[in-house]
Amino acid sequence: MTTDNPFRVGLETERIPDACVFVIFGASGDLTRRKLVPALYNLAASRLLPPGMSIVGFALTETTEEQFRQSMRDAVGQFSRRKPIDEAVWGDFVSRLHYVSGRFEEPASYTRLREKLEFLDKTNGTRGNRIYYLAIPPSVFRTVNDNLAAAGMVAEEGGRYARVVIEKPFGRDLASAEALNTDLHKVLQEKQIFRIDHYLGKETVQNIVALRFGNAIFEPLWNRNHIDHVQITAAEDIGVEGRGKFYEEAGASRDIVQNHLLQLLMVTAMEPPVAFTADEVRDEKVKVLRALKPIRGDDVKRLTVRGQYGPGNFAGQPVPGYRQEPNVSERSTVETFVAMRLEMDNWRFAGVPIYVRAGKRLAKRCTEISVHFKNVPHALLTQGAPGPGADGSRIEPDVLAIRIQPDEGITLRFAAKVPGPSMVLRPVTMDFRYGSAFGGSGPEAYERLILDALLGDPTLFARADEVTAAWRLMTPILQEWEREHLADLPIYPAGTWGPPAAFELIERDGRAWRRL
Ligand code: BG6
Repeated sequence: MTTDNPFRVGLETERIPDACVFVIFGASGDLTRRKLVPALYNLAASRLLPPGMSIVGFALTETTEEQFRQSMRDAVGQFSRRKPIDEAVWGDFVSRLHYVSGRFEEPASYTRLREKLEFLDKTNGTRGNRIYYLAIPPSVFRTVNDNLAAAGMVAEEGGRYARVVIEKPFGRDLASAEALNTDLHKVLQEKQIFRIDHYLGKETVQNIVALRFGNAIFEPLWNRNHIDHVQITAAEDIGVEGRGKFYEEAGASRDIVQNHLLQLLMVTAMEPPVAFTADEVRDEKVKVLRALKPIRGDDVKRLTVRGQYGPGNFAGQPVPGYRQEPNVSERSTVETFVAMRLEMDNWRFAGVPIYVRAGKRLAKRCTEISVHFKNVPHALLTQGAPGPGADGSRIEPDVLAIRIQPDEGITLRFAAKVPGPSMVLRPVTMDFRYGSAFGGSGPEAYERLILDALLGDPTLFARADEVTAAWRLMTPILQEWEREHLADLPIYPAGTWGPPAAFELIERDGRAWRRL
């Protein structure tokens, strides 16, 4: 085992995956260029790809293998976290890349694909092992799965494996997600399905588990006796970035909230699992969703806020509103911002509000979970400027903030005495930063998750019941919003923190969003 690579050690080097053919459906798409192939290249650079593993792009575009390889080189050059391209790594990596052009709905395309994969098995010893990565629109998930099954390409026989990785969005409401699960289960076993949510591959998200269950000091405080409330923010400063067509169908609730934001909530609020294994962890996560109080009918107005960005400013430049973005209707009622006040009906968190918000074109890019502790029971000491100017106000309560991005780290805010003759306090912070503690940048979420899929470890992927439990919360809210009139959708200027109603949602309870 080499120990010169911290990422390699961190990813349990004993578990080098068995060689397989990794097939990317949707190989000419954005995700392949921006995330998947750069992640595979970085795994190769970390010497974590098994020898003999091939990567086959499958898409409609007619292109030669040479052209495909060249465009993937451009993609790696542009999007890899390691720059510049390491020619020695690339030399090996490029020989793994292949391309098959075909149509998702055409059985003959699968015959051609199958022949190519069997040829690669023979030359590289991949023994029929397969990962099929569906980086394709949800409307063709079923078609591809059914055709793969009909071509005999997903059967796990003779010790070989076949796994299907499915990108979000997984359904668009409870009924469609349940129907998709049912269809997938007709041709695949649950253990073959890897529903990806890239937030679970982020180092800092996994660090929440480490913080809570790898330390003795936090967990005793992690409950209703000590926590006043929790805030989760996933703020983006970018707009829809040319993805207007997709976003018109999704909106913030389907793009971010149903998946990424609820995953953050699950990891923050789950009970300690009996072991860190796939089913134990996912059992605990799904219980969090089941414990969330449903929001229905009139409660939707009271406990949720949506909004849409209008024209505004970003980095000192004017930027268009959502309705002016390409492929967006000028009368669109799709939300680009969501805030909600959630509560859990369980022993640990009963009565502790969880405020969540997510949006595009907000004031800055920042994803953070903050745990706000209760204040001291008796105002023995006050905060403010030292000396006679002390303002006598109550000390601000302690806050533990977990920054997912950027500048990943954990900060504890607490009260300290201001130097000088008076006993006056002021909030200060203890700061842990990933970058300075461990040096450099860690692996990207997609690297970790692709490696786990290769290893057959679904711990960081969503199970069928997890996805449907998330839709069970979101669907009544979406239905109620659909019933509402256009006038109920507040427009916020791009570059701000969302509509005033988002502030009212939390201020009504005598609390405020944390300044980020
Ligand atoms: C994706 C969404 O899943 O996550 C995008 O479709 C969003 O709209 C992105 O921008 C955010 O991911 P990250 O890793 O940049 O926080």
